[in-house]
Amino acid sequence: MAQQRSDLAVVVMAAGKGTRMKSETPKVLHPVAGLSLLGHVLKTAQGLAPGRQLVIVGHGAEAVQAALPPGVEAVLQAEQLGTGHALQQCAPALEGFTGQVLILSGDVPLVSQASLERLMEAKAAQGATAAMLTAIFEDPTGYGRVQRQASGQVVGIVEHKDASEAQRQIQEINLGLYLVDWPALAAALGGLQANNAQGEYYLTDAIGALAAGPGGVVAVVTSDPWEGAGVNTRAELAALELEFRKRTAARWMAEGVGFEDPLGSVVGPEVRLAPDVWVGLGARLLGRTTVGRGSVVGAGCHLENATIGEGVELLSSHVVDSEVGDGTQVGPYAHLRMHAVVGKQVRLGNFVEIKKSVLGDGAKAAHLAYLGDAEVGAKANIGCGVVTVNYDGKKKHKTVVGAGAFVGSNANLIAPVTVQDGAYVAAGSTITHEVPAGALALGRARQVNKEGWVAARELRAAAQATVDSQTTPAPAR
Ligand code: UD1
Ligand code: CA
Repeated sequence: MAQQRSDLAVVVMAAGKGTRMKSETPKVLHPVAGLSLLGHVLKTAQGLAPGRQLVIVGHGAEAVQAALPPGVEAVLQAEQLGTGHALQQCAPALEGFTGQVLILSGDVPLVSQASLERLMEAKAAQGATAAMLTAIFEDPTGYGRVQRQASGQVVGIVEHKDASEAQRQIQEINLGLYLVDWPALAAALGGLQANNAQGEYYLTDAIGALAAGPGGVVAVVTSDPWEGAGVNTRAELAALELEFRKRTAARWMAEGVGFEDPLGSVVGPEVRLAPDVWVGLGARLLGRTTVGRGSVVGAGCHLENATIGEGVELLSSHVVDSEVGDGTQVGPYAHLRMHAVVGKQVRLGNFVEIKKSVLGDGAKAAHLAYLGDAEVGAKANIGCGVVTVNYDGKKKHKTVVGAGAFVGSNANLIAPVTVQDGAYVAAGSTITHEVPAGALALGRARQVNKEGWVAARELRAAAQATVDSQTTPAPAR
């Protein structure tokens, strides 16, 4: 991480309700590519290495606060009286702070780090008190309009609802993202009044006041309308999701990653992919997932915080909080979870679940197995239907299968138990005691064959029928 800029504080406004989402979940916690809207904003802001990060919370404050990464401070805005009022709530937290604040919106996730850097450069170059990000919209309805003098000098922002017919013709709109000297903004916030169409304290009025001051306000125009795109409805969220996918896939394709369907698969913002990775239709790669060179993430895979080596083949499988070594084949329909660590050249087949277990290089579990809290040595063979019986109803216990051991089909390994290196477990065994190295363990009832049993049973049945017919009284008339 770069050196932190102690003269820069990020403030994210996230107290709004998001009524039109019609959701119990606070708007800023809805995900795009598996990361919350707020998470996207904070991630981008972190790229600037701010000394402090504040999030203004209000609606759903508890849930939003609980979702904040460590080190990010919450500022409560108990009542939402406008964007200016939101910033006023930061005054106690920023008491004595003489640096600049970067003001972002928790529901505007696609703002780029490059644009934020442009704000910093433009503000510094012009010695301005504030810089704001703007865009030219064909249909500016609903947005605040940027007012400029003939010279181009920014003089203020007028909200759509307060704008005259003439002002509504202005197509340059305020994206609601600003970089401002905090002491000057704090002073301007103190003078805000709510005498406007919405009866709110407008942050835009404070920016207008700074425009009239000595340093003035510089507007940086972005040519990318998505940077300011906010989320108010489910439809807008879905549109953002698609745009994010398109951009992310384009970026990875330029790095040599192949996509079966760039819009039909999801790659989260924190994912890292090596060249020649191939992503199938409907695959979702989320969280801090990394995938090594030449690996295939097949159709429908779900990877979350997964570390995948090189030349791995994953087919229709889930890998969550787990690692898969080079050259390993997984699936179809395998499930690795809770810190499963699978070595190199391993073969995990269909319907194999691995939970919190370590599998050595070259191990195999080709069909229908459950390995939980297990340690499986290199080149061990886990037969079809093998189950580690790891839970006694109260506690989890460990199973150890040594290197080169062979566990026959449908064996139950009742943990805690150890099968030592090179030992064999006969198919169908229930293993409750340690199996020594090189031994064969048979833990099942010996088979008994009863010759002629079927015919004998039929004879018995016929004899019984005769007895029944002689003793049953005739039905009454
Ligand atoms: C704001 C700008 C407008 C700009 C638009 C860009 C003002 C007055 N207007 O309008 O010029 O074109 O953004 O999207 O600022 N919030 C709070 N507390 C509040 C009110 C809002 O935290 O009391 C948060 C919201 O959750 C949201 C952000 O501030 O994340 C912007 O609020 P919103 O109500 O969407 O502002 P707009 O009316 O869209
Ligand atoms: Ca808005």
